Amino acid sequence: MKPQELKTGIFLDGGNAAESLEIRDLLGFLDGQTTNPTLISKNPEARRRLEQGMKFTEREILDFYRQVVVTISGLVPEGSVSVEVFADGSTPAEAMLTQGREMYSWIRNARIKFPCSLEGLKAAEQAVKEGMRINMTLCFSQQQAAAVYAATRGATKGQVFVSPFVGRLDDQGENGMDVVANIIALYKLGDGHVQVLTASVRTLDHLLYALKLGSDVITAPFEILKAWGEQGMPLPRPEYQYPSGSLKPIPYAEIGLDRRWLAYDIRHSLTDKGMEKFSADWKGMIGQEDVRKIA
Ligand code: E4P
Repeated sequence: MKPQELKTGIFLDGGNAAESLEIRDLLGFLDGQTTNPTLISKNPEARRRLEQGMKFTEREILDFYRQVVVTISGLVPEGSVSVEVFADGSTPAEAMLTQGREMYSWIRNARIKFPCSLEGLKAAEQAVKEGMRINMTLCFSQQQAAAVYAATRGATKGQVFVSPFVGRLDDQGENGMDVVANIIALYKLGDGHVQVLTASVRTLDHLLYALKLGSDVITAPFEILKAWGEQGMPLPRPEYQYPSGSLKPIPYAEIGLDRRWLAYDIRHSLTDKGMEKFSADWKGMIGQEDVRKIA
């Protein structure tokens, strides 16, 4: 059972429904799930097939993704399942939207992931007007989060998530949890239509500190949720201090939320790198003939 005092949504970050079932059984609840192309490429069934040298066609990989998502959706019917569109540096907003509309029809609790890039934000602006639930992924800065807020003004509460990626900032020596803290502080100035989903969680301390900060949602990989569950789902005590070690602090920026979204500086090298990696992992599952079609 979910502890009563735990207000944060706990999501599993993965592409394997067997893990969702195991975590739901261990915790006694699971509030939702996030997926991405890399996680789908790690799905054991996909791996088996690829190891036998059998690549997917573009249609087959979408059908496979759909099948995985349908199964997971049945395990978290009250929550949402985030499904990510294919997007590399040259994918226009309209192409992201076309994919997003199809993916949104797969399950009744879908949430479409668009990147925090120029085209991703254009797609997000339109998607919320069409009533889609969305999750803005690959967010690495307060400016990007401000742009998400501004591009989705008018959305209903909970319709939009923004996903700051903690682990990938830590990997380059910056304190990723600072970005979560800064976005939460910035959004206190707003109307609450965007919720913060702490992503790219690599340690139990990421989870505990995100809970202490009051992140609306946290998505964590199987191993982290398993360890947390096996330890009896500890919550941070009031005296809890996040051990940031030698990570470089990322200071809060006084930027406000009242500008047009294009006025914020949305560029971040990790967003570009992340899109490249997601698209490479997606294309890696598809045979040469079909890759040419999406390239
Ligand atoms: C979830 O929505 C993200 O795609 C995921 O947390 C990324 O995690 P990673 O940085 O460990 O790949």
